[in-house]
Amino acid sequence: MIKAKPFVKWVGGKRQIIDKLLQYVPDEFNTYYEPFVGGGALLFELSPKKAVINDSNEELINVYKVLCDEDKFKKMCNVLNNYEANHSEDFFYEIRNKDRNKASFNRLSDYTRAGRTIYLNKACFNGLYRVNSKNEFNVPFGKKLKVNTYEGGNLITVSNYLTMNDIKILSVDFEEAVKDAKKGDFIYFDPPYDSDTSTFNSYTEDGFGKEQQKRLAKVYKELSDKGCYVMLSNHNTVLINELYKDYNIYIIEAKRNINSNGKKRGKVEEVIITNYENSKEFS
Ligand SMILES: C[S@@+](CC[C@H](N)C(=O)[O-])C[C@H]1O[C@@H](n2cnc3c(N)ncnc32)[C@H](O)[C@@H]1O
Repeated sequence: MIKAKPFVKWVGGKRQIIDKLLQYVPDEFNTYYEPFVGGGALLFELSPKKAVINDSNEELINVYKVLCDEDKFKKMCNVLNNYEANHSEDFFYEIRNKDRNKASFNRLSDYTRAGRTIYLNKACFNGLYRVNSKNEFNVPFGKKLKVNTYEGGNLITVSNYLTMNDIKILSVDFEEAVKDAKKGDFIYFDPPYDSDTSTFNSYTEDGFGKEQQKRLAKVYKELSDKGCYVMLSNHNTVLINELYKDYNIYIIEAKRNINSNGKKRGKVEEVIITNYENSKEFS
């Protein structure tokens, strides 16, 4: 069967290091949890039959939900066809600016909003997701002459995967998303990155700072103490090394493509942290 792939390009997406991540995935587990799912690179790679996926970005989660409903999915495809056909710089800004009027934005159907999210992701600069303090999407036009929102039928494959398996889709805080995890479940945390130089990361209207990283480390420990398999990825920073010093920390090199400053693109060290030993590590 053809495997689904991420249907959006997402900041911090894990496709480039997917082979490295796979080496650290436990051989067997019950339910798969991904509380910071983003584009879902590992979710689709593993394609578990039972999973709980979550992201605080409501527009993104709305797309996952629409993909789970046959009728809404068809309607979203019509929206995408229309957007692709009308694609231009002016059209991009017209669609982007729909969230400037909250009353009319809130009246849009969920499938229209889902189509808008996918279209903006493909048509904006570098596939970034950034909103201002009023929760208005503010990434500029990506200057592509044509956009391909379907990517060779991948959306259909994603929709089939989500509907034919037991996948619970949430948009809550990460702590709430894992509260039902039990011994033997596998949780993969891929939070917004920590940084040794800055104190603020902008993914959604509220950033994910040092305090959030510390709260996450507490949740990691609670799950570990419960007997869950817990894996986490982040940058190799002082704080992350301190917070997870009681666990296995593996350093890997990753090439990052999404950076608004082209000069800063390049290799950065990332870490994968597990609370279990992994036999695949040295094979
Ligand atoms: C590094 S990205 C995940 C990338 C993903 N693994 C992929 O392959 O595309 C981090 C995600 O965390 C989400 N996020 C930020 N704060 C959150 C919170 N408190 N609870 C849940 N999700 C949050 C962001 O919206 C973003 O999608």
